[in-house]
Amino acid sequence: MKKDLLSIQDLSLADINDIFKLAQRLKKDKKKFAKTLAGKSLALIFQKPSNRTRVSFEVGMYQLGGHSFYLAPQEINLGVRESIKDVARTLSRYVDGIVLRTFEHKNCLDMASVATVPVINGLSDFSHPCQALADLFTIKENLKNLKSITLAYVGDGNNVCNSLLFAAAKTGMHLSVATPKGYALDTEVVKQALVMAKDSGSHIKITEDPFSAVCGAHVVYTDVWASMGQEEEINKRKIIFKDFQINAKLLINAAPGVLVMHCLPAHRGEEITDEVMDSKNSVVFDQAENRMHVQKAILIKLLKS
Ligand code: CP
Ligand code: NVA
Repeated sequence: MKKDLLSIQDLSLADINDIFKLAQRLKKDKKKFAKTLAGKSLALIFQKPSNRTRVSFEVGMYQLGGHSFYLAPQEINLGVRESIKDVARTLSRYVDGIVLRTFEHKNCLDMASVATVPVINGLSDFSHPCQALADLFTIKENLKNLKSITLAYVGDGNNVCNSLLFAAAKTGMHLSVATPKGYALDTEVVKQALVMAKDSGSHIKITEDPFSAVCGAHVVYTDVWASMGQEEEINKRKIIFKDFQINAKLLINAAPGVLVMHCLPAHRGEEITDEVMDSKNSVVFDQAENRMHVQKAILIKLLKS
């Protein structure tokens, strides 16, 4: 596996399968791995808020016998008090790994380019690889394989959607993406994914019609309409995205037993209704739990010497 995990593109299919196998063992038997990362330290540099990413990395590291600490936005003041590269150079002298949650993806690339320890992307404006890995792990747990599965993503063509796209293209899962006009995935990103999809057999469909995306889908996924950093756009987006809500009507033509997924945090009543989020089809809190198991596997792969 490469030194850093900044995007799903950093992983081979074999890496992904290894992470899933290890995550499964970690989920089954927590005690067995209680000392696996003893003596190791992980720094969490976050420029944006977090519940799942911060807590799952911190608890995961603790459960592996290691230690982690959180550096809040005002603490390091990345790029203002000190350049990102100098932060990376310094932290590399103290810690065994860095998780970075940031705005521009370039910050992840800059940090990884000089850090001598692994850098893990805990969300950038471009991608959220740990989320997509936990999502696919959750789908596998429920539906056994990925190859014959179609996931429909309905909403904003954002970081989470990018990572799902690459993850689908890598693993052979089929993906239908429905976004409103003007909020589609970047065409260059889609182009890259289509190249990968040729090898894996994944079918990628891009549309502006949520009903067409969801028709026959085994999994329906959504995310917030306005991501962190876009809060001031929410009123405008509420109008533009109103037909892209995951609700009972939209799910009528999905496959029977369709799984409903959301990376969380959810804005109930906007991109997803209470009824759907709280239904028996919803696996959103399993996804949240699996963040920890999958990230523990990633930490072992990257930090264990
Ligand atoms: N899904 C996710 O990354 O959640 P947080 O923003 O709470 O970390
Ligand atoms: N797209 C969302 C994901 C949050 C986990 C954001 O970037 O805010």
